[in-house]
Amino acid sequence: MSPSKYAAAALFAASALATPNPQASTPSAASTEPSEFTANPNVGAGGNTFTDSPRFRVYSATGDEADKTLQMLESAYTCFVSDLGWRSSGLSYNSDSDTADTWYKENIYSVDSLDSAAGVMGSDPTTGLSFVQVVNTYLTDPSVTVHEYGHALTYHARNWVDQTATGAWWEPLANWLADTWMTSDLCASARERYSQPTGNSIIELKKVIGDSYQVIVDGSVDSGNYYQSWPILTYLTNNPDNFTGLGQDAVLRLNLEYEVGSNETPLHTLQRLLGNRATVQQVVGRYWAHMAYVDIGSEAANRAFLEQRETLGYENLDGSGQSYTVKAARQPQYFGANINPIQVSGEGSVSVTVKSNSAFTATLAVRNKDSGAVRYVDLENGSGEVTVDGSEEASLVVVNTPAKLIQYDPFKLSSEATSGLDYAVQITGGELLGIWDSDRGRSLNFLVVVPM
Ligand SMILES: *[C@@H]1O[C@H](CO)[C@@H](O)[C@H](O)[C@H]1NC(C)=O
Ligand SMILES: *[C@@H]1O[C@H](CO)[C@@H](O)[C@H](O)[C@H]1NC(C)=O
Repeated sequence: MSPSKYAAAALFAASALATPNPQASTPSAASTEPSEFTANPNVGAGGNTFTDSPRFRVYSATGDEADKTLQMLESAYTCFVSDLGWRSSGLSYNSDSDTADTWYKENIYSVDSLDSAAGVMGSDPTTGLSFVQVVNTYLTDPSVTVHEYGHALTYHARNWVDQTATGAWWEPLANWLADTWMTSDLCASARERYSQPTGNSIIELKKVIGDSYQVIVDGSVDSGNYYQSWPILTYLTNNPDNFTGLGQDAVLRLNLEYEVGSNETPLHTLQRLLGNRATVQQVVGRYWAHMAYVDIGSEAANRAFLEQRETLGYENLDGSGQSYTVKAARQPQYFGANINPIQVSGEGSVSVTVKSNSAFTATLAVRNKDSGAVRYVDLENGSGEVTVDGSEEASLVVVNTPAKLIQYDPFKLSSEATSGLDYAVQITGGELLGIWDSDRGRSLNFLVVVPM
């Protein structure tokens, strides 16, 4: 999916909104939510041709196309608002209350074209309501329409609005929301209720893995990863390592527990979710270790990995024999990572030592090629040993995890954020070989374990 499909949405997220940002309310049991919301044609351009469902109105669409769009959105509403507790898009941004007298339908506009985007979310400051515009050829495509509705839910959740440090996180959130609706068990009953199919993941592994060294959410125009970086949100949601404080409401809580008006980064909020039980450094270290084989609790994402893995880029290290160093251009930046596959030939024990003058988290991910199960070995202070058998493969994952979180603007990365982790690796029982990658027309580096 081309980032330009959402260009206008990115601008919305990046631009400061001249609207108040009152303290968000948490979902309340005493909701006055009606079964049928009220239409408000003054939000967006309005129009004479429209089709309604209980909580949405789609303009300039009728018949089958409108029904498909509305069923998809009612299903997304059911998953995120009714089941997972996001603040309703029917409630005004301007109100603290979730017990409003009138709840409004979300207006969806089917349009002929948009300025270099397939969809865009807009807001009406007077009513505090949002609306979505989607180019008609994408109207029934959830990767666009549910993505844009994800921006609407972020707007109605309020705390990430008008904050520079969260600006670039709007896109990963919207893509996480679209992917979760299409693929996750969390939305299975909501999909079933509206007869919606389970889809394939929109994960873009060539970017997430191929450029994993980049800042965890990097909003740089053309080169950044902010449309692709969302799998971290899937990891926090599915919580395969069972960190206390994470789980199916983790992304919502990154919004709800954001310190209002502080311009803190979502990583700061994440530390608040974890309390003193774990650190962001540990969690992001484990996230990247799980990305070695895309073992983040999403079958759809794992399937995409298994289909695409031969085409992904892993050329991070230089060296030979037992000693390797990271290539300058591949040094992991702020909470970025290198995934270094170890191709196992035979069985044996591999000892690995990672050394750096800066803080890092290193993990060996070991995957059973028959069962697909992955085990993780933390390299304490960079050192550890693992015994791999003939049916296993392994990867060394090194993550730049500075001791202190920094304040950073993903749209204007500071030299502190892009400062790369220089590190060296010593391997006993393994060797780095150059392997020609015909797809990319260059050599790939693999660590090959030599049976001892
Ligand atoms: C996390 O918890 C689940 C459910 O209790 C369990 O099946 C799984 O093995 C646990 N994973 C880890 C890494 O502890
Ligand atoms: C890791 O380093 C810390 C600090 O130097 C030390 O206290 C700890 O014992 C080390 N752990 C191992 C397993 O070497």
